[in-house]
Amino acid sequence: VRVFVLNGVNLGALGARRPEVYGTLTLGDIERRLRERFPEVEFDFRQTDHEGEMVGFVREARESDGVVINPGAWTHYSYALHDALETIEGVPKVEVHLSNVHAREPWRRHSVISPAVDAVVAGMGPYGYEAAVGYLLRGAEARRG
Ligand code: DQA
Repeated sequence: VRVFVLNGVNLGALGARRPEVYGTLTLGDIERRLRERFPEVEFDFRQTDHEGEMVGFVREARESDGVVINPGAWTHYSYALHDALETIEGVPKVEVHLSNVHAREPWRRHSVISPAVDAVVAGMGPYGYEAAVGYLLRGAEARRG
């Protein structure tokens, strides 16, 4: 099973960036936790601050078994990322936010990415990534209930 975990703009600063909002774990810590918890999964774990590079990662994921994506601030305005995700139709996708975006500034409440994914996780902190991978591993039929 191959799963892409994609982190967008500013998420490389995790750990030092507003720990009261995003926690103290770094992206490296989150990756380690995922690999420990799901040793059977082949993870492609990526981060970029460049929108075009992220679009490339999404395209690379078209042959994979699932995508977990935290787009950072692109969540709120990147139609390019929406379109890239929409293009890999057959691949299950989960949008993850560490923070509860609905309890913060009003502009964080809207996601232009959500219409292109199967599920959204917000406010669970680093555990949200584990929840997302768990959901993907259940397989397409089980996911539908
Ligand atoms: C975020 C929420 C976004 O609004 C913000 O721009 C981020 C991180 C989160 O994980 O909570 O960079 O996606």
